[in-house]
Amino acid sequence: MTTFALFCFSGTGNTRWLSGMLASRLRDGGAEVDLFSLEDAFTLEKRYDRYLLAHPVYGAHVPRIVIEKVQTLLSGDRHVSVITTFGYVDALGYFAEKKALGRSVDAYYHVRMFNNITTPEMKTSVKPLRKRLEAKARLETRIGKIAASILSGRRKIEGIGPQLLAGIGVRKHFHERLQTFYRTLGADQDRCTRCGLCVRECPTHSIEDRDGVFSFHATCTACMRCYNHCPVQAVTISGVYADPEAFPRYHGPWE
Ligand SMILES: Cc1cc2nc3c(=O)[nH]c(=O)nc-3n(C[C@H](O)[C@H](O)[C@H](O)COP(=O)(O)O)c2cc1C
Ligand code: SF4
Ligand code: SF4
Repeated sequence: MTTFALFCFSGTGNTRWLSGMLASRLRDGGAEVDLFSLEDAFTLEKRYDRYLLAHPVYGAHVPRIVIEKVQTLLSGDRHVSVITTFGYVDALGYFAEKKALGRSVDAYYHVRMFNNITTPEMKTSVKPLRKRLEAKARLETRIGKIAASILSGRRKIEGIGPQLLAGIGVRKHFHERLQTFYRTLGADQDRCTRCGLCVRECPTHSIEDRDGVFSFHATCTACMRCYNHCPVQAVTISGVYADPEAFPRYHGPWE
């Protein structure tokens, strides 16, 4: 029986759902799969036959938490197969993924799911739940096909196309912005109830509440979970309140 370690990072739920579905399809195909969330503390207790990594695309790049965790978890000789999720265009792709992880990538799959971010600065649109639910069966079928391809051991590389050239510029444009994104985050003192949810849920423990004074630290991976999950929409970007009517928050693919 082939054993798989599947590492997953998910800021707002898309990649988590995909990873659960992928693990279940691989198990249906006779594999043994251990699923690890990269935001949790864990150690690898055994050697697996194959390593899988699932993560979202951020500004045509790999989220910082993923790069750091994979480097500490896996020695450079372990190859991985990667599955990314994205909202509009995957301009990251196989070559930049390999470069960012600094290791061989055996296969690269990508799944267009749903955009998870709309802010006054970045007025992209978030698909309404009804539209997302319409896409669910298609996504399940797609993940089933990826599982079959992984089980067959093929070195499939998806998504090689002209968007990867554009990705070079996108990465340049967003890299610095995402590295310093934490500086733009804040908590609106008039709205914040100090419920502590953002502090507890931040995957990189980058939020500190000191007697109502919030600081956001450089370890932030720009996942947008704090912005999306705050129950009173008090998390601000560049000090601007984002009205949820105009900028709906994203609570996961099926919520
Ligand atoms: C900071 C940031 C940057 C993003 N950049 C891209 C991008 O370059 N291309 C894209 O298609 N979607 C982009 N997205 C959308 C996410 O890739 C997409 O919603 C993903 O499925 C989210 O996965 P998650 O819910 O597991 O975090 C971005 C989202 C965030 C928060
Ligand atoms: S989740 Fe929102 S309301 Fe709760 S502490 Fe954080 S900013 Fe304040
Ligand atoms: S501070 Fe917010 S955006 Fe940054 S990693 Fe934590 S939850 Fe994500």
